[in-house]
Amino acid sequence: MTKGRFITFEGIDGAGKTTHLDALEQAWKQAGHEVVRTREPGGTPLAEKLRGLFLHDAMDPLTEALLVFAARRDHIQTVIEPALARGAWVLCDRFTDATFAYQGGGRGFDQTVLGTLESWVQDGLQPDLTLLFDLDPAIAAARLSAARQPDRFEAQDQAFFERVRAAYLARQQAQPARFAVIHADQPQADVAAQIQTILSQKGLL
Ligand code: TYD
Repeated sequence: MTKGRFITFEGIDGAGKTTHLDALEQAWKQAGHEVVRTREPGGTPLAEKLRGLFLHDAMDPLTEALLVFAARRDHIQTVIEPALARGAWVLCDRFTDATFAYQGGGRGFDQTVLGTLESWVQDGLQPDLTLLFDLDPAIAAARLSAARQPDRFEAQDQAFFERVRAAYLARQQAQPARFAVIHADQPQADVAAQIQTILSQKGLL
């Protein structure tokens, strides 16, 4: 029986989720919760090695999907499940919705195969809440720092991110109870206020 909370943060690159993740990590720590902040792909030594390959080496979409689910399996078994079992609040920067959005939507990979991998790897585990930072890819692209060296995904064109965004929203429409959509095109303080409202309504703040 899971005792903790599993909260994931999703959205296209440049949606601004990291700033709000930082703030919530602090708020929940101050409220006395054990907070485990982690990310995907990654979160364990093995999964971080796979992340390096995933972000920088050329590969086909099935290989991408298998690598990210392999990393996820290790992350769930060694970090997420043990943390939830001891009552921690796990805040994860991206999870399986990103695979449906980027490999499914962006790359056009078969969502049925992704669904099969999801059920093998997760064995019923789903986030309690997913905050989806939604915004127009043109605005997101303008926010991404020009100084930063883009990874294989950040280097994609706007049409790719339109497909990623649409796949995220399709996933949200299929599982509305799990998701909260954050309108991330607003100023940062307004985005923070939207998050506060949603979390208060859900009894999480
Ligand atoms: P991201 O989490 O945005 O980290 P950073 O902010 O340090 O760049 O980068 C991870 C990238 O990997 C992002 O572009 C989305 C992509 N990704 C997938 O394609 N599929 C997945 O399943 C996950 C978790 C991420």
